[in-house]
Amino acid sequence: MAVLDIVEVGNPVLRARARKVSPEELATPESQRLIDDMIETMRAAGGAGIAANQVGETVRIAIAEVGDNPRYPYKPPIPLTVFVNPEIAVLDNATETLNEGCLSVPNMRGELERHMRIRVTYLDREGVEHVEEKHGLTAGTFQHEVDHLDGVLFLDRVTDPTTLTTWAEFERRGLEEFAARAAEITARYGS
Ligand code: NI
Repeated sequence: MAVLDIVEVGNPVLRARARKVSPEELATPESQRLIDDMIETMRAAGGAGIAANQVGETVRIAIAEVGDNPRYPYKPPIPLTVFVNPEIAVLDNATETLNEGCLSVPNMRGELERHMRIRVTYLDREGVEHVEEKHGLTAGTFQHEVDHLDGVLFLDRVTDPTTLTTWAEFERRGLEEFAARAAEITARYGS
């Protein structure tokens, strides 16, 4: 396994729509190694998720994982999930304002709306189909990663640019407030 370079905002690969991966391609050593490397890269960077675009590959493969992550003390846990060719269905019109950052947008956070109840259909790394409901902040994480596969960054969804902050300013002024809001969202919607 290897830690890959994470490309940053401004690189056109982050604006590309990634292509679907066939089950045959997914089974190749190249695809499996890419998945291993993405997991290692996400963990090394302390991220809650990563999409293939972020390591320069335009295939529809993304990963999410939240354990005891000091960067995201307000996020409910997400077991390591490799999702290939994900499709999101929005289940109702519930939305909440979340505060997000991104490994490809260094040292920046901002506020945006996310759907709170979604159904995600995807293949795991073995090519097995899963259909799962995701709620609350976890639903937000999956929307963020699928956005990457469509060439969309969280910045595009920030409707009020005055909410943009560096990490230091977020920790100084916003973290406590957002942690309380996140706890309410988790209590209301689950994960
Ligand atoms: Ni991101």
